[in-house]
Amino acid sequence: MKLLTLLLSTLQVVLVKSLGEVSGYLGDTIILQSGVDPTWTLSKIEWSIWSNHTWIATYHKGRTNTERVHQFGQRLSLNISSGDLTIQNLTKDDAMEYTVDLLNTDDEEKVNKINLIVRELLQKPTIQAARSLSVNGECLMVLKCSSPDSGVSYSWDVIPSSVYTLDRSSARLSAILNTTQNSVNFTCTTTTNNIDHASSVVTLKCDDDEIQPPTQEPLKYQCRVKFAFPFLIGFLVGASIVTMIYCFGDKIKAAFQFLKGMPFILSHSS
Ligand SMILES: *[C@@H]1O[C@H](CO)[C@@H](O)[C@H](O)[C@H]1NC(C)=O
Ligand SMILES: *[C@@H]1O[C@H](CO)[C@@H](O)[C@H](O)[C@H]1NC(C)=O
Ligand SMILES: *[C@@H]1O[C@H](CO)[C@@H](O)[C@H](O)[C@H]1NC(C)=O
Ligand SMILES: *[C@@H]1O[C@H](CO)[C@@H](O)[C@H](O)[C@H]1NC(C)=O
Ligand SMILES: *[C@@H]1O[C@H](CO)[C@@H](O)[C@H](O)[C@H]1NC(C)=O
Repeated sequence: MKLLTLLLSTLQVVLVKSLGEVSGYLGDTIILQSGVDPTWTLSKIEWSIWSNHTWIATYHKGRTNTERVHQFGQRLSLNISSGDLTIQNLTKDDAMEYTVDLLNTDDEEKVNKINLIVRELLQKPTIQAARSLSVNGECLMVLKCSSPDSGVSYSWDVIPSSVYTLDRSSARLSAILNTTQNSVNFTCTTTTNNIDHASSVVTLKCDDDEIQPPTQEPLKYQCRVKFAFPFLIGFLVGASIVTMIYCFGDKIKAAFQFLKGMPFILSHSS
């Protein structure tokens, strides 16, 4: 009985309340509010991160420590009356869930969680394109999207969406276009957090004399060997297998045409 009472008194169940999310732009200063009852006089404040509850800023027995984790350097400050945590010069790595554990002078405890989103103004990506000559009414288009921002992920939208393409969620896109088809719009979109996006569009068709990138710069064919080689292997393997099954399908011809087009692409490497 004694043991049970002891167990119950030590097993303090504190409900964790979610305070939702706040967002700030890269480089900005943000205040994470502790959500404390304004009538409380705080005796302990512990801000922590990660699943192992690593302390980042604490106030214990009248002492404040805001330089516990290297990642934050000297960017943190703690308001010991409100429990609010200020983060200066936001970085991408600061985007995560923060937990604050508060204790008042009457030994009442409260735990709150808040999610920080770090937003970013992304720059427009650049699209470069190269294509094979048309044969049997089709041509192969290879597009490459690049962004000046780091850590972005890429995706493509193709209109009309019926155009045959490989993987639309990487920086490179290969598409087979019909010469009878009107122009096709290729949109490359970049994002780092699925909240902020930037995109560029190119309109291309098989028989254009010149493929124009969205910027005013002259077109650079940047299909270097590194880029083209895995592609060549893939097409050779694919083409030889399919040739054994069907002779002279339309796609095969396009693939062969692509192989013929390779020297054309490579010779334009800058
Ligand atoms: C807590 O977790 C983080 C990342 O998950 C790790 O880097 C850190 O070393 C861990 N800290 C401790 C004290 O285990
Ligand atoms: C925040 O960034 C500014 C400008 O880059 C710099 O001068 C300042 O020292 C930084 N502050 C902290 C606490 O890192
Ligand atoms: C700390 O928080 C209190 C209550 O919100 C506020 O009145 C005070 O100005 C804050 N102090 C600083 C240094 O920001
Ligand atoms: C190209 O157009 C022809 C006729 O319009 C059609 O039969 C063929 O499937 C089209 N090919 C592609 C790749 O859209
Ligand atoms: C492609 O984009 C241009 C300019 O943004 C637009 O005028 C045209 O209608 C689009 N074409 C298609 C097929 O969506």
